[in-house]
Amino acid sequence: MIVLGIESSCDETAAAIVNDKKEILGQSLLSQEEHKIFGGVVPEIAARSHLEHIDEIIESCLKKSKLSFDDIDAIAASAGPGLIGGVVVGVMAAKALALALNKPFVAVNHLEGHALCARLTSNVEYPYLLLLVSGGHCQILIVKDVDDFERLGTTIDDAAGEAFDKVAKMLNLGYPGGPMIEKMASVGNENRFVLPRPLHNSGDCNLSFSGLKTAVRKIIESYARDGNIAHTIINKQDTADICASFQYAATRSLCDKLELAINIFKQKYPNGKHLVVSGGVAANTYLRAHLKDLADKNDLIFAAPPIQYCTDNGVMIAWAGLERFAKGYTNNLDFKPRPRWPLDENAPKAAGAGGVKA
Ligand code: KG4
Ligand code: ZN
Repeated sequence: MIVLGIESSCDETAAAIVNDKKEILGQSLLSQEEHKIFGGVVPEIAARSHLEHIDEIIESCLKKSKLSFDDIDAIAASAGPGLIGGVVVGVMAAKALALALNKPFVAVNHLEGHALCARLTSNVEYPYLLLLVSGGHCQILIVKDVDDFERLGTTIDDAAGEAFDKVAKMLNLGYPGGPMIEKMASVGNENRFVLPRPLHNSGDCNLSFSGLKTAVRKIIESYARDGNIAHTIINKQDTADICASFQYAATRSLCDKLELAINIFKQKYPNGKHLVVSGGVAANTYLRAHLKDLADKNDLIFAAPPIQYCTDNGVMIAWAGLERFAKGYTNNLDFKPRPRWPLDENAPKAAGAGGVKA
């Protein structure tokens, strides 16, 4: 079984081909650079850029795989959640190919792409506990099967990646902020600034990053003689210390809540073996190391996609598409891309959502 997957929900235009032996047969990815000067993704620019590049990305992916379209069994695309202009471009490309080649179309929830990716790259079996941390989402879930998620907790305000990006912006470190914060933090003192533990005593698995961000803002403002954050000049070591203290606080917050989630997971699924992290923030090696310690301490196996497959890519969409296709989930060509699409209410099972169980 061979599936082509297309990703275009944010600022990466990507395509990949995978098979059911967990082989990545070809992949192409273009990260849009146009947004850097704006300090964040501009949806209209992103959509235009996807439109301009999607054909060549699919073509080059196919060429690298040395396959022809005839060898492909199904065409999958990230159909939401995400920036709708970009999502529409990828979905239209996939539907056009499906129609022209008379192959099934599979609408993939972008978050499911992140969530299942570790099953392609490691031997992870259902059910597993997942921390999904990206630029737009931050959730703790039990993944029971394809299309079968139980959410244990979510952020009540900012996503984890969003917090990294906002702190980086306040420190003028550029966009995306996560990798820069991690780099600076590696030479910083994480104990220099004491930051709050949001929702620490809430007793549930929910997370919050907005208070943390505000606390960092206050520290940065204290460097400005006139209290205006735009007028701060912070030396490199102090910047590194702020980054390290923030990264430590964010990681501690995630680990605290995961500790609770592990207890729930183990009670419900005593045979569950894996703690998985995925999404763009999972590229953070400091976070990965702490999660591995947490898993070891709780007799779970830690798994995460290789760093290049944590941020958006076509491979995760092709793989999730393949898992869906293997289960018989395909979609009609009138499937409507979904700007919002919570993982725990996946569409294809729902009547009227354009889903077909073959
Ligand atoms: O999954 P992703 O590529 O896009 C979304 O679906 O949102 O995640 C992007 C997010 C950005 O917020 C970025 O700053 C963050 O992932 N990120 C990181 C790192 N690399 C990317 N955050 C912390 N440390 C990193 N090394
Ligand atoms: Zn993503």
